[in-house]
Amino acid sequence: MSAAVVTGGDPDRRQPTEHADTGVELAGIDLPSPILTASGCAAAGRELDAFFDITELGAIVTKSIMLKPRAGRATPRMSETPSGMLNSIGLQGPGIDAFIENDLTWLNERGARTIVSIAGETVEEYGRLAAKLRSSGGFDAIEVNISCPNVADRGQVFACRAESAAQVVQTVRRSSDSRIPIFAKLSPDVTDIVEIADAVIRAGATGLSLINTLLGLVIDTTTMRPTLAGTTGGLSGPAIRPVALRCVWQVHQAFPTIPIIGMGGIRSGRDALEFLLAGATAVSVGTAVFHDPSAPSRIHTELAREVRARGFDRVQDVIGFAHRADDRDVPSPASTQHTTPAPQETSSLEDWDFITE
Ligand SMILES: Cc1cc2nc3c(=O)[nH]c(=O)nc-3n(C[C@H](O)[C@H](O)[C@H](O)COP(=O)(O)O)c2cc1C
Repeated sequence: MSAAVVTGGDPDRRQPTEHADTGVELAGIDLPSPILTASGCAAAGRELDAFFDITELGAIVTKSIMLKPRAGRATPRMSETPSGMLNSIGLQGPGIDAFIENDLTWLNERGARTIVSIAGETVEEYGRLAAKLRSSGGFDAIEVNISCPNVADRGQVFACRAESAAQVVQTVRRSSDSRIPIFAKLSPDVTDIVEIADAVIRAGATGLSLINTLLGLVIDTTTMRPTLAGTTGGLSGPAIRPVALRCVWQVHQAFPTIPIIGMGGIRSGRDALEFLLAGATAVSVGTAVFHDPSAPSRIHTELAREVRARGFDRVQDVIGFAHRADDRDVPSPASTQHTTPAPQETSSLEDWDFITE
């Protein structure tokens, strides 16, 4: 790994560039950036496109789509928590047919790389969703959201049992074009995430998305009842980052060749760097988008600087670097002047006043 990247022109005047090359290869797809959106936090990318050019991101990961249109859960379905938020949106959406006709068509016309997230209530529904996508084409990968209740099994969440998680992934794999990578999105609410990862990899997952939200609860001390109409909700934001990082670390350690999309509380380039060092090939930005819609673009630029400041020319080279054997050297920093300021850690509720529902 060479220490200095130089720009063209008169050799005597060439300066080290501030930014590392951000291109990464994710499950055979060449991405210009490892920064993706997180499912459910940017719809199909239309709104974010008003803030920055979404084609510069690695990909848009769309809101999980179900077979039929769905209104989601009753309100209130969002609540603030220290360093994060709790949501129980309940997979509101237009259904797969309208999604393909409107959102997927728009993403294609816009030229954005797209990872379509799907969610079902039964194993069979996942298969039908994958078959519909196979007919439509026009996307780069599927993310299988298995953090949904299985109506055929007393509402047990698919992702919390190795067997049901594997059944879903196997069905999606069989119903999809064999060239399309499938990412299984796992829940951290399990005793051993490596066991679930093992099951879905054996069932045909190309890669893993880690992690979905953690199940949480907030009680309103005025009404003295749970704040969310659905009682419990998914916890996201900086509060869950160490849990997410631990999951990425454990799974990468167990399956070092399996591509991972890491997510959970990423707000800065330095946060994203932590996930790459732990073994993620790409990262999704979710909750941060609600109070800074430009966050994915900003994090992309910050990450390129953070990586370069540590003496690496390419972001690809830091993936899994924290797992190295003790005898491997850390490259000498390129120049500390390019390091972005330390991200402000938040535990103040004012930082989360974007919650309106
Ligand atoms: C409002 C909201 C809606 C979400 N909807 C989905 C969804 O439809 N499908 C899914 O797989 N994950 C969904 N998630 C989870 C995120 O994709 C992500 O895994 C999680 O929030 C952790 O990342 P973050 O802390 O950056 O938000 C949602 C999260 C939030 C906050």
